[in-house]
Amino acid sequence: MNLKDLTPPNRIGKIMSYSKDVLKRTHTCGQLRSSDIDKDVQMCGWVRSYRDHGGVLFIDLRDRDGVTQVVFDSPEDGDATGQQRYELADTLRNEWVIAISGTVRPRGKDRINPKLDTGEIEIVATQLTILNRSESVPFEPDEFGKTSEDTRLQYRYIDLRRPEMTRALRLRHKITTAMRNVLDADGFVEVETPFLTRSTPEGARDFLVPARMQEEGFYALPQSPQLFKQILMVGGLDKYYQVVRCFRDEDLRADRQPEFTQLDLEMSFCNEEDVMGVTNDVLRKVCEVSGIKFPETVDVMRYDEAMKRFGTDRPDLRFGMELIEIDDLAGATEFGVFTNAIKSGGCVQCVCVPGGAELTRKETDALAEWSKMFGAKGLAVTKVVAGKKLETGIAKFLAPIAEQLIEKMGAAEGDLLCFGADTKKVVLRVLGELRCKMARERKMLADGDYKWIWIVDFPLVEYNEDEKRYDALHHPFTSPNIDDWNDRQDKPETIRSRAYDIVCNGMEMGGGSIRIHDTKMQSKVFEMLGIGAEEAREKFGFLLDALKFGAPPHGGLALGLDRVVMSMIGASSIRDVIAFPKTQRGTCPLTNAPGRVDEAQLAELNLKIANPVEKP
Ligand code: AMO
Ligand code: AMP
Repeated sequence: MNLKDLTPPNRIGKIMSYSKDVLKRTHTCGQLRSSDIDKDVQMCGWVRSYRDHGGVLFIDLRDRDGVTQVVFDSPEDGDATGQQRYELADTLRNEWVIAISGTVRPRGKDRINPKLDTGEIEIVATQLTILNRSESVPFEPDEFGKTSEDTRLQYRYIDLRRPEMTRALRLRHKITTAMRNVLDADGFVEVETPFLTRSTPEGARDFLVPARMQEEGFYALPQSPQLFKQILMVGGLDKYYQVVRCFRDEDLRADRQPEFTQLDLEMSFCNEEDVMGVTNDVLRKVCEVSGIKFPETVDVMRYDEAMKRFGTDRPDLRFGMELIEIDDLAGATEFGVFTNAIKSGGCVQCVCVPGGAELTRKETDALAEWSKMFGAKGLAVTKVVAGKKLETGIAKFLAPIAEQLIEKMGAAEGDLLCFGADTKKVVLRVLGELRCKMARERKMLADGDYKWIWIVDFPLVEYNEDEKRYDALHHPFTSPNIDDWNDRQDKPETIRSRAYDIVCNGMEMGGGSIRIHDTKMQSKVFEMLGIGAEEAREKFGFLLDALKFGAPPHGGLALGLDRVVMSMIGASSIRDVIAFPKTQRGTCPLTNAPGRVDEAQLAELNLKIANPVEKP
């Protein structure tokens, strides 16, 4: 059979027959302008809306490029074809798929639609073909705001027709292409790595896949290609990258999905500056194709400084409201909350919210309640009034230090002072979150403002109070700072690592590190993390072996592609930049995944549901 036989009408036979020429589009629905007036055109698309203006029918025709108005004028007396066309057009309903031919004409002066790129013209239809009808849709793409997200995800194909989604997916494509082009030009080679593999420790739970052919064997879906890319370096690949899916079973948030995409890269014979430099080049191009300015150079901030000033290792630098330690002043008050925190080894810190004095008592009480989500016991506040005085909240306790406090905070009349008094960890967490919440709610964030920062000198490990052992802050393959390693192995928490994160507007866009390329050091780090020799051999023996056979010094990084696109578009949910995302509960309403499997399938895998849930 040749291609001609596959084209309509043969392919769809009797169901609907039309000349294949009707599918030959001259323009998309977003293209026509005044300069096209009098052109004969042919277009295909979906009926976005139809209006009957007494003898004239208006159709808004939509495709991924835009919307064009099509007009069916009422036929002249005796124009039988015109009459037929008009009657057919009168049957059109939303989301039907049609092809039209016609001539471009200017819209009347009072009918120009400045909201549409094609708003100055319309097409007078001379031909109409119905390519497919649609049942009445569960929601109109334009009305997505009134539709629950579950419904939108269930009928994602309708949701995808709205311009915001089309734009997001097309920009995502442009961004991925730009990333590939930059890396390709720099000699990076894209290599695919396995999905059916062993656990890679990126700190989340694994998704497991039972292996039918290996009794009691399970694959783990990769949380990242970390180990494979390091092994590629041992294999001499030198510069690797991959646009790759990663799988992590963790609690979902606005910027997290259980499967997400990374731009993953690794290079040999490099140091931190090399990896950060390549990443800057990639991001510069990404910003360029997104129409956003990227700075000449990206500043670098030490982890300690970020924590001290912003309470987090992913500081949002678009606004001030920095955290200020006030132990000395707080200790001079008789406010139990403050003095107890200091006595028990904690600290007291303060954030000044400009203009925040306008918050009502109800609103500041709500802040105290909100702070409990982050482990705080409360959030004390007071307001700055004229004459360098404090009023309301805990003002009376602060009387002896009011003037010094206002001075230290650089506060002015009308500001709100918020206090955290607790362990340092809790205080940083709460006040770090508070400044971002205030900036969002008090409209202190300008659209199109992007503040990039590299965070470096992370601690290598962090003490895990619950499990009484050290956890790797990045991952166990991250190289320690060599001087720290030589001097302070007895104080693991004081050792810095060679990790780096790229942060934009308070979101971690990517992270990476220079790796350990020495078997002995790798074994020692495993030991420090409480991973015994036997466990290390069982889980990562293949890496330890590879490091023995001529591993070059190497390092790399991974950018979260979904987050990068989110930030370029200014989306607030990661689901807005993924064609088929999972809900907050990790489900897919379109396919109804995850689903149950039948007994026979389980038996084949030698599996049994231990505690079956009653079926509703
Ligand atoms: P890391 O775990 O920091 O590093 O991940 C790198 C980047 O991936 C993105 N990301 C996510 N995006 C969406 N949903 C998630 N659940 C999610 N988790 C992470 C973030 C993050 O910065 N192998 C190392 C990289 C390396 O060392 O080279 C790694 O995966 O933007
Ligand atoms: P209380 O003495 O519990 O009535 O608290 C007085 C004020 O201090 C209230 O506004 C609380 O929200 C606040 N507060 C209580 N505990 C803390 C804390 N650990 N840090 C900051 N503020 C707190």
